[in-house]
Amino acid sequence: MKEELKNIKEKILEEIKKVQLPEEIKDLEKKYLGRKGEFTNLVKKIKDLTDEQKPIIGKLANDLKIELEETFSNLQKEIKTGVDDLKSRFTIDPTLQSSKKEVGHLHPNTIIQNEVVDIFYSMGFMILDGPELESEYYNFEALNIPTTHPAREMHDTYFVKTDKDFKKSEKMVLRTHTSSMQVRALEEFGAPIRAIFPGKCFRNEATDAAHDNTFYQLEGLMVDRNISIANLVSVMNTLLTQIFKKEVKTRLRPGYFPFVEPGFELDVNCLICGGKGCSVCGDGWVELIPCGLVHPRVIENGGLDPQEYSGFAFGMGLTRLVMMKYGIEDIRLLQSGDLRFTRQF
Ligand code: PHE
Repeated sequence: MKEELKNIKEKILEEIKKVQLPEEIKDLEKKYLGRKGEFTNLVKKIKDLTDEQKPIIGKLANDLKIELEETFSNLQKEIKTGVDDLKSRFTIDPTLQSSKKEVGHLHPNTIIQNEVVDIFYSMGFMILDGPELESEYYNFEALNIPTTHPAREMHDTYFVKTDKDFKKSEKMVLRTHTSSMQVRALEEFGAPIRAIFPGKCFRNEATDAAHDNTFYQLEGLMVDRNISIANLVSVMNTLLTQIFKKEVKTRLRPGYFPFVEPGFELDVNCLICGGKGCSVCGDGWVELIPCGLVHPRVIENGGLDPQEYSGFAFGMGLTRLVMMKYGIEDIRLLQSGDLRFTRQF
């Protein structure tokens, strides 16, 4: 009997080695330990043994039963986790084609801004960033536009409500132009200075194909001893020749801005018709860059002596330049967030 128990144990362990699936374990368990199982049948024979042998063999059989039950249940667990592991490994199918990842790219505003920035950088200009939420002082007063000045009406301004406890007593605005950086830059860096300030501006405009309430300008400022209109014209011509990648003709017309004196509108000879006159330009000239020599009062507000220093400033409509370069007919497309539009650049 002892021998028989030993044999059946070996047989079971041998069979267990071949098992692969949890179901097979169950079948095997049933085959041996089930009600009519081989092991159960063997145990039934214990009752026929001698009284001396019964307790000894009985204990052996009982121990073996517990051992086998444990082996089966452990095996069950092991195989189950193994199979789960295998299953999860196969939920990733490496033969499937992966979904295409979209690669982003720069917005046309940024592309053109980067180009212009590079040109000025090569001429020794600093690139400065400034606040979009600006004090009335830097946006208007410092630029020789006092509260009652009619020039304020040219700027449909977004005024921002400020808290009573706000440190500055003055009102804040969304900057209406990048000229707000002129006095900030002079205060910070003094003279000589060559700097450009690209950035977002805001005006409370009724929008149409040519106007938006948010747009980009690129302001430039050069202050030093003996700066004249000749310097302004030379820098503007260098800029435009490089942007349009051909020699362009320019002209200055008088223009009024309280922070420059004299002030100009710089026009470019139309690149579409070559200056003969067409539906885009009318008379052969396109108005592109308002500019002028920095007003002595602005120099003074920047902490410098206007007797000693002079300079020029210009405020290029970056958004307009983007539209001209790419032939975009409606300014609103640029900020529409419509991917069908943006994907074209
Ligand atoms: N800031 C002016 C505007 O937005 C443009 C400008 C800039 C004019 C610098 C002259 C000099 O209309």
